[in-house]
Amino acid sequence: MGKFTVGILTASDKGSRGERQDLSGQVIREMVADLGGEVVRYEIVPDEFDIIKENLIHFADQDQLDLIFSTGGTGLGPRDITPDATMEVVDKLVPGIPEAMRMESLKKTNRAMLSRAVAGIRHRTLIINLPGSPKAVQECLEVILPALAHGLEILRGEAGECARGEA
Ligand code: MTE
Repeated sequence: MGKFTVGILTASDKGSRGERQDLSGQVIREMVADLGGEVVRYEIVPDEFDIIKENLIHFADQDQLDLIFSTGGTGLGPRDITPDATMEVVDKLVPGIPEAMRMESLKKTNRAMLSRAVAGIRHRTLIINLPGSPKAVQECLEVILPALAHGLEILRGEAGECARGEA
């Protein structure tokens, strides 16, 4: 698969006020570049349901991105709302992606079970929630990135034979 377009949506009250540097967004940027992903949209927003929802819709419908990663707001805190906003905008869930992230992450930390991250499709855009910490982002991306190119090909209707080219 050739190049694909990526949006990063960082949900962080502190980050949106400029009180915290967005290292997680940077990790995503570096790791998708290795795979041919070009980050064409980036926003850092507070943990507000409607703002997250509007940004996801804009990235998918106006910008027509292939892939959106959110980071942050997946936990149990009263302001953690990213998966809930994501579920409102997707047409279909892709449960295997967060299942894989949690399954592998649990081998490193039992706290992996505390992320409510979801993934799903809106039209031709794949949306994936990642937890907020740079370490968690790196660990989760390591698990899912190898399968993503094929997933995006299928989403675009470009994939040929699924059985070939397996890792
Ligand atoms: N997943 C991995 N791979 N590594 C981690 O360190 N941290 C967990 C979890 N998922 C973690 C992880 C922790 S401590 C929390 S609270 C949840 O993600 C939710 O994080 P968030 O609210 O920043 O999205």
